Parts: sequence; C-alpha cells; structure tokens
Amino acid sequence: MAQITLDVFRFDEAVDVVPHRSQVTVDVPETTTVLDALETAKAEVDGSISFRRSCRSAICGSCSMNINGTTGLACKTPCNTVMDKDGVIQVDPMPNFQPMKDLVVHMDPFWDKYTRLKPYLQPADRDEDHATERRVSPEDMKKLVDVANCVMCATCYALCPVVSVDPAFAGPAAIAYAYRFIEDVRDSKRDERIAQISEDYLWLCAHCYACSYCPKHVDPNDRIVDVKRAAIADRVMMNERGPRHALTVNRTIRQTGMLDETELILGTIGRFNVRGLLKVAPLGLRMAAKGKLPPIFLKPIPKVDEVRTIFDALEVPVA
Ligand code: SF4
Ligand code: SF4
Ligand code: FES
Repeated sequence: MAQITLDVFRFDEAVDVVPHRSQVTVDVPETTTVLDALETAKAEVDGSISFRRSCRSAICGSCSMNINGTTGLACKTPCNTVMDKDGVIQVDPMPNFQPMKDLVVHMDPFWDKYTRLKPYLQPADRDEDHATERRVSPEDMKKLVDVANCVMCATCYALCPVVSVDPAFAGPAAIAYAYRFIEDVRDSKRDERIAQISEDYLWLCAHCYACSYCPKHVDPNDRIVDVKRAAIADRVMMNERGPRHALTVNRTIRQTGMLDETELILGTIGRFNVRGLLKVAPLGLRMAAKGKLPPIFLKPIPKVDEVRTIFDALEVPVA
C-alpha cells in the first residue's frame, strides 16, 4: 500500500467566485489508478469532491482530467507513474473548458462541434433498396477503424493550443470524426462534409502534434492532414485562404528549396485581391522600416532537385 495525497482543484460555480485547492490523503495500492484514488478519497474522506466517470476501463471517455499538468484519462493513469517523491498528485479540470464543479467541466462547446458534423451515415439511397446490408471492403474499413475507436474523451481538445486562442476552431476530435464519414464509402455527403469542416476552421490547425497524445491512438493530427488532402483532391473550398496558403507553401519550397515569404503572402491573400493586400500593407511597411522584408525573388538552393524528389515521392499537392 502507498499513502497518496491528491491535491484537488475545487470550485463550485453555484457559490464560488474563485477556485481553491484541497488536499486529501488516502491509503491505496500504489499501482491503483488516479481514478480509483479519487473514488477512495470521495468514499472515505470527502464526499463532496466531484468528477465524472463511468466505465473505469478507458471506454466511456468521461474521466479525462489534468493530472500533474498533462491531460489524460484518470482510469488509465496508474498513480505510481505520476506521483511525486512525496506521493502527491495534482488533479485539475481539463483546460480549454469552463469548470462547473471541481473536476467536472461544461462540455457543450465540444459536443456542439461534434453535432455540427451530422455524425451519422447519410447514404445516397434507402436501406429498403438493398437486399442485404451495405458491404464495405476490408481495405475501405481499415481506414476507419482507428477513428472509430474515439471515445469522445476530449483529451485532444483540451490539449489543443488553437482551441485555447480561437474557440471557434472545430478541434482535433471533430475533424477526426469528420474524416470518419468523409472516407466512408457508404456516405454520400463527402464534399458537403469537407465544406462544413472547412467552415469550422479546419485550416487553422497548426500541426503542432499536441493532440497526438490520444489515449485511444486515434492520432487526430494525421486525420486532419487526410481531411486537408481530401479537400485539395476534391477541390472543395479552394478559394479559402487555408488551402491557398498550404499549396503556396508547397509550391515555393518545391521551386526553390526554401519558403518564399513574399510569394506566400501573395498566394494566400490573392495577388489581385487589392483590398486584402492593402490590409497587410501596414505590416509590410513596418517590416521594411525594421529591415525585415523578405527578398522579392529567391534563387533555388543548390541541389533543389533533391528537394523536388521528396515532394514527388510523397505526392505532395502543389498549387
Ligand atoms: S481523438 Fe482521442 S483524445 Fe480525442 S476525443 Fe477521441 S479518444 Fe479522446
Ligand atoms: S495538431 Fe492541430 S488540432 Fe492537434 S493540437 Fe495541434 S493545432 Fe490542435
Ligand atoms: S471512467 Fe470511462 S474512460 Fe475513464
């Protein structure tokens, strides 16, 4: 047995103006999970500690919380992997969410973004028109299996820095789930779904890989790349700045071996978009005043052909 002290974030939106913390010490086997330690604390010491849980087996997705500064499922986190040398574990609500009571947060923004996807199959014809079930080949199903493992725990959403600065961003889980329907051969709304997720700021994803820490190995970041590739392949919403920016990055690096920042601005905003260019002109003038303007013409680096070989091997789309 080990003596573990849980340092718990406490807040009740009904009565508190500011949060405080309380420390609860319990005797539990040191291999027990953080969730079981919290359950023991609630049952034996302080019944008012609030947190969500159900399955205790990393299936229901409800026990995601911040444990010593990293978000994850409490039922999948053994205490002995996170406690400090004094046996203390800090538990806080997930970031990027409004706390409701202690470790319980308001999940509405996360669910709203998921609901906007219309997260159900929309086939082109009716079930009654099929003599048998709708068959999917093993190859087509293989693409969907990982995403279907998502338990909607919102860990990735809590870890995403873009959500924290722009709450309108759909977030990694919603985009990964959009991929699940975009790539499903039984669905008939592929382009509408791509357009919808593009409108929900798909292209804001900065590919920082923070969401690659997913307890169910969904790898939302890779699915976001797949959705962006699908948007480009299907030429959906190509007049948006996001795809233009991505394609211009690809084109300039393929041409010169470097990022051509002048061309990047023109390609993203549109070289004939006078109003858009006028908006960024003050920034250009400030950069010029500080001697920071990028060169207008870039010469290709030596051996640029080797860079182009990488682009060709990876079949990178280029504007
Ligand atoms: S993608 Fe992973 S981290 Fe994100 S909600 Fe689904 S299971 Fe949780
Ligand atoms: S890769 Fe994109 S979605 Fe994932 S955490 Fe980073 S910005 Fe957010
Ligand atoms: S209690 Fe269900 S995922 Fe942790």
